[in-house]
Amino acid sequence: MIYKNKIDSKRLPVHVAIIMDGNGRWAKKLGNQRIFGHRNGVKAVRETVEAAAEVGIRFLTLYAFSTENWQRPHAEVDALMSLLMSSLHDELPTLMQNNIRLMTIGNISALSEAVNRQLEIVKNRTAGNTRLDLILALNYGGRWDIVQAAQSIQNDVASGKLQQPVTEKIFSSYTATCNAPDPELLIRTGGEFRISNFLLWQLAYTELHFTATLWPDFRKEDFYNAIVDFQQRKRRFGKTDEQTEKYEPSQNQ
Ligand code: IPE
Ligand code: IPE
Ligand code: MG
Repeated sequence: MIYKNKIDSKRLPVHVAIIMDGNGRWAKKLGNQRIFGHRNGVKAVRETVEAAAEVGIRFLTLYAFSTENWQRPHAEVDALMSLLMSSLHDELPTLMQNNIRLMTIGNISALSEAVNRQLEIVKNRTAGNTRLDLILALNYGGRWDIVQAAQSIQNDVASGKLQQPVTEKIFSSYTATCNAPDPELLIRTGGEFRISNFLLWQLAYTELHFTATLWPDFRKEDFYNAIVDFQQRKRRFGKTDEQTEKYEPSQNQ
């Protein structure tokens, strides 16, 4: 309530990305299994998506499963995949009601057929929705993204489809986030101060908001707080203080 009123709706970030971390520690604190934390993290996802839609964010990218997360115990990976499937199924009506389109980034071909089927259903059903793009990063890694972009460029050059020299703009168009602008704001919960192989190319000039709040405790007000924090930052993009004073943050994109 308090933070929501402080948000300047004319200076909203267009794209917010979140590293949802701390589920395991949250469960441990309560003497429970890690999966209990993941299950309770779903409520935080729901709240965050709702908050983003309400405030007028256009793109929300959530880091749900990294290329490194395969190294966790099999039982935890399986439980995460089951939870993903049931959540996709349960949240579809809410996505439709709120005009939210589901997208993914990451190598989803490595996920099971059942997960892919469920993703296809929700993506197809929500394809015409226009209020908010909810982008789930699944089997995503920043280095994977850069390498897959380089490989696609290599293929297009070999086939003659790409004939110009590669620029930053062309490179961006080959990354997994080609449909969204680079995030202006990255939130990481769970108290760690690292990127963990998230959007390495896209985070070049993103404002970073770290909070010790464990993901299952994250609520709308925490999201609004991050937006207010973002709006207090001075984005210089390499220029001087004096030069940047003349610009609104959005003009520097
Ligand atoms: C984030 O919470 C969820 C995923 C990475 C899937 P963690 O499971 O990493 O929780 P902690 O960091 O161990 O507390
Ligand atoms: C990052 O969290 C990945 C996701 C939130 C999906 P991790 O818990 O896997 O990150 P590290 O291992 O602490 O760097
Ligand atoms: Mg973690």
